Amino acid sequence: MQRLEGKTALITGAARGLGAQIATRFAEAGARVIINDLNLSAAKATADRLGGEAVACDVSDSASVAAMFKTVDGMTDRLDILVNNAGISGMEGDNSARTRIAEMVEKIQAGETPDAPLGGLFTEVTDESWHRMIGVHLDGTFFCSREATARMMHAGGNILNLSSIMGTFGRPGGPAYCAAKAGILGLTRALAHELAPYQIRVNAIAPGWIHTDMTDPLAPMHPMLEAQTPLGRLGEPDDIAFAAVYLASDEAKFVTGQCLSPNGGWYMSQ
Ligand SMILES: NC(=O)c1ccc[n+]([C@@H]2O[C@H](COP(=O)([O-])OP(=O)(O)OC[C@H]3O[C@@H](n4cnc5c(N)ncnc54)[C@H](O)[C@@H]3O)[C@@H](O)[C@H]2O)c1
Repeated sequence: MQRLEGKTALITGAARGLGAQIATRFAEAGARVIINDLNLSAAKATADRLGGEAVACDVSDSASVAAMFKTVDGMTDRLDILVNNAGISGMEGDNSARTRIAEMVEKIQAGETPDAPLGGLFTEVTDESWHRMIGVHLDGTFFCSREATARMMHAGGNILNLSSIMGTFGRPGGPAYCAAKAGILGLTRALAHELAPYQIRVNAIAPGWIHTDMTDPLAPMHPMLEAQTPLGRLGEPDDIAFAAVYLASDEAKFVTGQCLSPNGGWYMSQ
């Protein structure tokens, strides 16, 4: 018997990165996987590789999320697992990010103080970028969890939310990202309490620094981050994917409202 045999899982933002690797390990563990992303053809490419199905929507849009779940209803009469993974860094389309980060690292190594933290000064955060960050991460987790819960209440289920060490520890230069990821931890605990009577478990994963397309512009920082990490390396997508398999499986049947943080020891308290 495989660990997720007979389970159907919807994973958001799973065309690439951590979501795609979670879907890969879920499929290997016997789950039927439904891959969501913004772009249907990208979601389909991953779904085809895994023998799964694809659906598209922007998780920050409540009506689109509701429509996507209607599509999912047409594919399956059971939803056992939802992984709220879709996310943005705020550096998307910013071609100068890598150069700015390299300059920042140079200054730190020369013992100088950088002019501004990684994502710029807090006083320069726009309303639009703040709302987009909260929208994709926190609203998206809320919209998808609400739809999934309605489908899980009769038979139980599992919700897994991608938080971050930015939500547990925080760091300068990304206040909206940190606030969204910390908000996800609050939502995780609230839902874990409220949904336990329905045998719906709700947990969070707070990854450390993992090399994906999202974090690729941070490459100039990698040696510094490796040196700060007790286990001496950045994470790889499987470090998160296997944590997700565990939390979604019956091996974790007594685990709810928790935050598991594979981070190489970079931060040791949640
Ligand atoms: N990589 C890391 O170091 C790291 C660390 C902590 C937390 N995380 C979190 O893990 C999750 C996955 O990160 P990743 O590194 O794989 O990123 P990634 O950029 O490689 O993949 C994110 C995916 O989400 C999709 N997406 C973005 N906005 C969406 C939306 N509104 N609706 C639907 N899909 C959307 C993207 O198209 C992309 O395919 C994110 O929530 C991220 O914040 C990542």
